[in-house]
Amino acid sequence: MPTAPVIEVTELRKSYAGRPAVDGVSFAVEEGEIFGILGPNGAGKTTTVECVEGLRVPDSGRVRVTGLDPVAEHEATRRVLGAQLQESELQAKLTVHEALELYSAFYPSPLDWRPLAERLGLTAKSTTRFAKLSGGQKQRLFIALALVGNPRVVVLDELTTGLDPRARRDIWELIEDIRSNGVTVLLVTHFMEEAQRLCDRIAVIDKGRVAALDTPAGLIRRSAGATVISFTPSAPLDDRELNALPALVAVENKDGRITLSGRDDTVDAVLSLLARHHITAHQLRVTDAPRPAHRRLVHRRVRAGPRYGGLRSRTVGPP
Ligand SMILES: Nc1ncnc2c1ncn2[C@@H]1O[C@H](COP(=O)(O)OP(=O)(O)O)[C@@H](O)[C@H]1O
Ligand SMILES: [Mg+2]
Repeated sequence: MPTAPVIEVTELRKSYAGRPAVDGVSFAVEEGEIFGILGPNGAGKTTTVECVEGLRVPDSGRVRVTGLDPVAEHEATRRVLGAQLQESELQAKLTVHEALELYSAFYPSPLDWRPLAERLGLTAKSTTRFAKLSGGQKQRLFIALALVGNPRVVVLDELTTGLDPRARRDIWELIEDIRSNGVTVLLVTHFMEEAQRLCDRIAVIDKGRVAALDTPAGLIRRSAGATVISFTPSAPLDDRELNALPALVAVENKDGRITLSGRDDTVDAVLSLLARHHITAHQLRVTDAPRPAHRRLVHRRVRAGPRYGGLRSRTVGPP
């Protein structure tokens, strides 16, 4: 018998002061899946997951977590769902180990917090008060607190924001371990690389709506209908800056050559990023491959001129 989805969100709507933040979002997350919500700042990602966590009351639509209504059955939901806290929710004076003990006491079968703290590089800080932790340490503590209850479902919102690349990769491995123990993960991110690396499926959210919902490979195939930019930079580029580009669908960095898929406006953003860092793009190629469904998006001006030193190649045509 097919099992019911662990998280179900149907036609979710939520406005703030009459302005829609989430405008009809639907998706379902299966047991054991890492499901990503990807989108630019202000897209409505946090509002969506706060409704899943029962921290916000939807204006309309339906949300279920393991069949529970997170608002009406908040206590029961809390026992199955581990959520990443916001900074304001933790008392400044609690030490790391006090916080972990306190939070494990909320759950019926918590993990031993010590190995978890070790895994997250928090052991040396276990007697440090929360207020004295660095930004990255606070972030790692929030992740530990989301996991310590040994929940069936974990919601992580921008979990690696502010972490250095090394710490980010450690956290990714931890998330993969969590999933291999059967935990379902709902992961909010605005880093395409993070979503691609970790997620089984991704809902791309833009302006409160689901713009696409697919596997990472499927999203890349779709982006064949968008604009692909590739170049070899004269100096290394920061992954974080590349991932933060607007309308980015995918980024690949292979043997020093960068390939980005995005929309028309991604090209502008890439070129100004390069200009800001005084980096030259060697063998720059910009390719549009319009499909009928994407025609609206690829209506573009041809821009080959002195402003950016010239786009040297442009291929326009179906894939
Ligand atoms: N508590 C709030 N009050 C008013 N507006 C809010 C509040 N929270 C979020 N918003 C607005 O709702 C929109 C979606 O925000 P959010 O869900 O935080 O998006 P994301 O997490 O994708 O950045 C944004 O325009 C944001 O300014
Ligand atoms: Mg957010």
